[in-house]
Amino acid sequence: SPTPVKVAVTGAAGQIGYSLLFRIASGALLGPDTPVELRLLEITPALGALEGVVMELDDCAFPLLSKVEIGDDAETIFDGVNLALLVGARPRTKGMERGDLLEANGAIFTAQGKALNKVAADDVRIGVTGNPANTNALIAMSNAPDIPRERFSALTRLDHNRGLSQLAKKAGVTVSEIKKLTIWGNHSATQYTDIFHAEINGQNAAEVVNDQAWIADTFIPTVAKRGAAIIEARGSSSAASAASATIDAGRDWLTGSPEGDWVSMAVVSDGSYGVPEGLIYSYPVITRNGDWEIVQGLEIDDFSRAKMDATAAELVEERDAVKALGLIG
Ligand code: NAI
Repeated sequence: SPTPVKVAVTGAAGQIGYSLLFRIASGALLGPDTPVELRLLEITPALGALEGVVMELDDCAFPLLSKVEIGDDAETIFDGVNLALLVGARPRTKGMERGDLLEANGAIFTAQGKALNKVAADDVRIGVTGNPANTNALIAMSNAPDIPRERFSALTRLDHNRGLSQLAKKAGVTVSEIKKLTIWGNHSATQYTDIFHAEINGQNAAEVVNDQAWIADTFIPTVAKRGAAIIEARGSSSAASAASATIDAGRDWLTGSPEGDWVSMAVVSDGSYGVPEGLIYSYPVITRNGDWEIVQGLEIDDFSRAKMDATAAELVEERDAVKALGLIG
């Protein structure tokens, strides 16, 4: 049988982990023919709870799950991993300033970047879900000089999926009838969901909707604030949908985005679309066999330009803040 793919998940005892691990083990990430070995990283106090999750993984008797290893040492857990899903992060707690949050997460992603640099497999891909995702990915990337920069990405697929769902409702279609939606920029309230290049059954989505006020005042803010709306309704932050988006993003990265479509992924900017080089910025990308390419040549009008610049400016601020903390060079 084929060699198992080694997939690391950090924050494995958390909410997202509780959805994510079972979907990975069932084959949703790598397909029905690829066995998987899970490497689960947690902080020491959460290892007991993680053992309970592993008991449940055992009890599912997943045919594709070849092995599960857990621990609190990044170098041990990341040893030889082909894919690392960095989900664990320090949540913002009461009284915590933005700088404190960046510093706490900076420490986590500095250490994990260094550990991946040292022990991960040569073909490793790293997807960051833990927030602030773009800047956490930037910190990990900057601390892993031997891993090509293209191997790091931050998750904006949840925003992309939220956009598909909202647009489908408005247009009275199913999500599978929509293609080429784009999330630009930061996984934060400044993100910009662009339907001006999207297609609904081959027709321009903005023209189908034909309601600029809805796009500007309802659609874009609804997608951007969806996370807060979920917290308000559910009492805790989105977890199953975040896990599902993490799976979608990883699967498409490794196996390829659908023909005639693209996906949104926050990747290192090469300056495309006037975004400062080196930022982890969400772009429309086409993926093939673990590589990605930014879709080029899209026409950007003034409305889009202003929103793309605003989210880039926020990422520049975050980058400068972690630079000032000495977390990146
Ligand atoms: P959670 O708080 O339930 O779980 C996080 C887990 O990470 C905890 O079990 C914690 O012990 C662990 N952890 C903390 N520091 C760690 C470290 N250094 N190494 C390993 N594990 C560590 O949080 P939840 O709901 O699972 O969310 C995880 C992250 O994902 C949060 O940062 C959240 O904001 C983010 N998120 C991102 C989304 C996106 O679209 N990019 C969507 C939803 C959540």
